[in-house]
Amino acid sequence: MVYGVILAGGVGSRMGGEKPKQYLDLKGKPIIVYTIEKFFTCPQFEKVIVLCPAQWVEHTRNLIAKHLAPAGDKIAVIEGGSTRNETIMNAIAFIEAEGKLDDSTVIVTHDSVRPFVTHRIIEENIKVCEHFDACDTVIPATDTIVEALNGATISNIPDRSRMYQGQTPQSFKATKLKALYEALTDEEKDILTDACKIFVLKGEEVALVDGETFNIKITYPYDLRIAKSLLEDEEE
Ligand code: CTP
Repeated sequence: MVYGVILAGGVGSRMGGEKPKQYLDLKGKPIIVYTIEKFFTCPQFEKVIVLCPAQWVEHTRNLIAKHLAPAGDKIAVIEGGSTRNETIMNAIAFIEAEGKLDDSTVIVTHDSVRPFVTHRIIEENIKVCEHFDACDTVIPATDTIVEALNGATISNIPDRSRMYQGQTPQSFKATKLKALYEALTDEEKDILTDACKIFVLKGEEVALVDGETFNIKITYPYDLRIAKSLLEDEEE
């Protein structure tokens, strides 16, 4: 079975303001509603699990009732974790508690603040997970990537044609991700914000799926302005 996992457990400290950025308005609807809608309208999902801060669970359920067609039990809203990876683990624990977790269970994890994801990207993630245990959505790097280990002078300039920028979704065989995550030390768990990196560190393959330049993550106020223009383009 395949589950959509919308990660909305963050507080959006770089955006600032009094509410987490996923609840900010984008032309009449909160950002998170656009994102959930993309997943909700994908027939491949057994269920879409939305994970948010505890005090936002009720509000998120109300938003879904207001903006989306009757979701029945197709969407579950539960509490996220203290880190992005802990939020993913809460989703896996939820699937396990429902008695639906087995070696073939796939989770398509996605940032709640990437509302421009497409059905094509979601479907390719699901397809690739038939043959791989993990995949990452990426676009070729446009800027040259410069590494500075000391933060002051360049230590390396990797060949740009081999560099990519990571987006989401990132998709996984859920039992494999859980096993690899549980094998990490507490220190490793603290620094590993990227779930694909857990696979890479353990020498496991992660396949690539083509993303889109417009599949942006809304992080700063500037991104909100870009998102508004992208939405206007979509409406035209
Ligand atoms: N996320 C999550 N659980 C956490 C932390 C983050 O589900 N404990 C989610 C965020 O809600 C977001 C996605 O992961 O949808 C990408 O993270 P990021 O853009 O870093 O969001 P925030 O952590 O909210 O932002 P900031 O780092 O500025 O505080």
